[in-house]
Amino acid sequence: MTVTDFAATSQDLAKALGLSDVLSLQQINPSLAIFDRHNDQLSLYLENEQKVDQLCFSLIEGEVAARAVKVSKSNEVIAKAIGCKPHFRPRVIDATAGMGRDSLIMAKLGCSVTMLERNFAIHCLLEDALQQLKAQPDFNLNIQLEKQDSIAQLADMNQVDVIYLDPMFPERKKSALVKKEMRLFKRLAGEDNDADQLLKSALASSASRVVVKRPKGAPVLAGLKPSHEIKAKKFRYDVYLNLNNSLS
Ligand SMILES: C[S@@+](CC[C@H](N)C(=O)[O-])C[C@H]1O[C@@H](n2cnc3c(N)ncnc32)[C@H](O)[C@@H]1O
Repeated sequence: MTVTDFAATSQDLAKALGLSDVLSLQQINPSLAIFDRHNDQLSLYLENEQKVDQLCFSLIEGEVAARAVKVSKSNEVIAKAIGCKPHFRPRVIDATAGMGRDSLIMAKLGCSVTMLERNFAIHCLLEDALQQLKAQPDFNLNIQLEKQDSIAQLADMNQVDVIYLDPMFPERKKSALVKKEMRLFKRLAGEDNDADQLLKSALASSASRVVVKRPKGAPVLAGLKPSHEIKAKKFRYDVYLNLNNSLS
């Protein structure tokens, strides 16, 4: 059984037992539980060749939290990509929430951000990180999370200025260079093979701008040429404007 199957099975089992979440499973049969909570932080334990790897998310500690402290429109390329202006901060749907890092930066810029995440286990970890963030005494961000598959959901989302997409990057050849944390995350999330469809759903929505984060040199999604691109050091943003296009 893969870890993703395991997460899905745990969810089904929790549902069948009438439990609200997988965490409660642990109380019934500890060997079924893949989640655990230590020092107020939720972790996912993944079996990996007879070792156990641990994955947890934080929006208040580590690299992204340090970056969030110094956020400004002028030092974040993402601000330009999503169209922040001196007196305008867009309402953003982050349709590929993941660890919530990009969302945290956009919220820190002053945007209202709705994160959508479809993977059950990733959603659980992110929800936990978000609750920790919201528990901070100085918390004042407009950020929320929903467990949704964005492909189906985007058409129904109103009052949105920007849809932000960051589907999984294709596998890198030098995988030893990928951080352990990211390897675990990728193993859990799998590959976002339907990213082309996700872009088409975003373009068919009412948002006036769709922004796609892509690795340097990667082809555009769905073969669709963006209005313009914004280059960063290791990746680029493909920006799609004027979305009255008819897509098949
Ligand atoms: C590369 S990660 C995003 C990382 C994120 N930008 C961050 O800063 O942490 C991609 C995430 O998008 C999620 N995802 C991909 N397609 C999705 C969809 N159609 N609906 C919801 N979530 C999706 C995956 O499960 C994965 O967690």
